[in-house]
Amino acid sequence: MPSKKRAARRSPSSSKKPPARKRATASRKASASRNALTFDQIIKGGNIVTPAGTFVGDIGITGEKISALGKNLEGDESTKVIDAKGHHVIPGVLDVHVHLELPFCGTVSADDYRTGTRAGARGGVTTLIDFAIPYAGESLAQAADNWMRKAKGKSLIDYTFHICITRWNEHKDQIKGMVDRGFTTFKEFMIYESEGWQSDDRAMFGTLEKMKEYGTMLLVHAKSARVLDELIARHHTPELMKKYGARLHPMTRPNFIEAEAIQRAVQWCEATGGQLYIVHMSTGEGADIIRAAQARGVPVLAETCVQYLVLDDSVFEREDGHLFACCPQLKKPKDVQRLWKGLKSGEVSVVSTDTCTFDREQKAMWEGDWTKIPMGMPGLETLMPLIYTHGVLAGKITLEEMCTKLSTNPAKIMGLYPRKGAIQVGADADIAIIHPKKTHKVDPESMETNADWSPYDGWDLAGFARTTLSRGDVIVDDYQVVGKEGRGKWLPRKTAGLAS
Ligand code: URP
Ligand code: ZN
Ligand code: ZN
Repeated sequence: MPSKKRAARRSPSSSKKPPARKRATASRKASASRNALTFDQIIKGGNIVTPAGTFVGDIGITGEKISALGKNLEGDESTKVIDAKGHHVIPGVLDVHVHLELPFCGTVSADDYRTGTRAGARGGVTTLIDFAIPYAGESLAQAADNWMRKAKGKSLIDYTFHICITRWNEHKDQIKGMVDRGFTTFKEFMIYESEGWQSDDRAMFGTLEKMKEYGTMLLVHAKSARVLDELIARHHTPELMKKYGARLHPMTRPNFIEAEAIQRAVQWCEATGGQLYIVHMSTGEGADIIRAAQARGVPVLAETCVQYLVLDDSVFEREDGHLFACCPQLKKPKDVQRLWKGLKSGEVSVVSTDTCTFDREQKAMWEGDWTKIPMGMPGLETLMPLIYTHGVLAGKITLEEMCTKLSTNPAKIMGLYPRKGAIQVGADADIAIIHPKKTHKVDPESMETNADWSPYDGWDLAGFARTTLSRGDVIVDDYQVVGKEGRGKWLPRKTAGLAS
């Protein structure tokens, strides 16, 4: 903020007080002139989107914060005006499920904090939450330190981490220390034994008890590990691999693998009263379980990812079908429909990406054995464009519902609201401005992600950010990333979960 404006705001008032009525008038005048003087930027004439409705108006920004909302806001000669006429103005998107530079499946995911956050910004993402996973033998604090180092100096947008508990006996007494340090969301995987990440029911139960005590939240990757192992072992023969190729990926992961595990996690949630959040839910059965649990008052929430809303497992019929291997894998059209319904009726609270990018060379590591495909896909850049185009423009959800699922709910659930996820006075000026109709063709060549392919290659999508602001800085202008690498900040938190 220009120092002239700061000085104007701080200028001391006269020590001799005028009578009360005169004081009120003077203070109104002062505040009017303060308004005129203190906006560094005004976003003018956009269709401002909130969960409660949309209205055409202006947003005044002072420093990093939204300082006024209204009609015909006035600045002075140094105020920068961003014209948003004919555009939607949306609270910056929070992608709360991202893996950048993650060692996984024998390689390291290809988007780091530089490319991943540039990609996010282009799609209007202004906050991301990654997963800090302890390397072999490490503490929770060391995991957080590792991820801080990955982000520092590279991240264009604000960020924090879910802390992954991978060895209950060692990690259980470290949880409180992480809460005190500003981390309020923890994660357990019910699979990935070979990565050294797998948790058992004892860990989930004990962690949920602690979440209840601290007002924090456990995220769970729900999979029935032993049955999945068995199905993979049964199919892992040269004959079947020759016959089915990458199609064995969906074939060995029927819906009950996710449903049974969600049911079990919900059981421990109900027993302990600790806040639970099911990540990347991909099945209709999962949505039914969450809906029933919420109706009984169980403190469980669920997220799905955009790929489970716009793709299905028919992609495995393609010659390059192996590229689409992710965990959970893509499901059937009936699951896709059920998840859209869950967004509408409320049991699905958040849409994220589970960005875990692997390029073609990394994906080629499979060499015909589906168990060796690095699992994950790029996603940050296309989250809002896909939901806007295939959700809002297709009439499946409203613009306000998109705002709820991409911005407001994730901010509330992850303990970042109203600093993030809101267009209101006092919130960070994190804003995405999108054209209602203008489309861009998805083309990996021209994208910010390090991926040399896209699950959505050739799709025409509206909803890319014409302008993205992060704490008042314009980081995307005219659809191009212009923000400075490393300007993103770590976000400490105090709470998590809807009840907090
Ligand atoms: O395929 C995926 N999702 N890779 C990342 C790891 C995970 O389970 O989220
Ligand atoms: Zn997962
Ligand atoms: Zn993930």
